[in-house]
Amino acid sequence: MTQRAVLETERYVATLHAGDHTGHDMAHLDRVRRLAMHLAEGEAVDGLALTLAALLHDVEDEKLGRDKGLVARHLDTLLIDPEQRSHILTMIEEASFSKGRSPSSRESAMLQDADRLDAIGAIGIARTFQFAGARGNSLHGEGDPTSAVAHFEEKLLRLANQMHTERARRIARERHAFMVTFLDRFEAEWTGQDI
Ligand code: ADP
Ligand code: NI
Repeated sequence: MTQRAVLETERYVATLHAGDHTGHDMAHLDRVRRLAMHLAEGEAVDGLALTLAALLHDVEDEKLGRDKGLVARHLDTLLIDPEQRSHILTMIEEASFSKGRSPSSRESAMLQDADRLDAIGAIGIARTFQFAGARGNSLHGEGDPTSAVAHFEEKLLRLANQMHTERARRIARERHAFMVTFLDRFEAEWTGQDI
């Protein structure tokens, strides 16, 4: 039963996220799941609920233009425990950066940390430029709040300080440092300081 719920959810999100070029593709979901499982290792948490929430956390992202209620409808097909169902929905609600919610369970804290770890470091940089390309936004517009580089100040450089678990904090520190190095070089090359 458990294995089936995971398999069916993998199949569901693989179809739904197919062709995504905004940084919210199946590879993002796989990395978030792996990161979440790493944070959960040896901890007393509901691994099934966390796995399903990791796979489903971007299904209803408003930026991607999908309907509310898709996750609930999918969960209804899985015959999972009602408590797990509502826990998964809460975790997904709390994972969103834009909603600014605090996690209300350990699993939810791990999912938030995992999603935010994938938004920073080398992968975070790549996803940000992929998102900007998909939206037709500029690389770096002076004073343009929609540019890819503006997104680092607006969001990505704040994330390392907002981790809930010690393990995530440790990974975030290195990823954050790499982003800072990247942005320094970017700025130097953009302004011609390095020539
Ligand atoms: P959440 O779903 O937690 O609110 P988002 O979906 O907004 O998070 O962000 C996921 C990733 O998508 C970001 O970390 C970034 O890489 C990319 N992204 C989102 N908004 C922008 C933007 N305005 N410019 C560039 N990249 C963005
Ligand atoms: Ni995500």
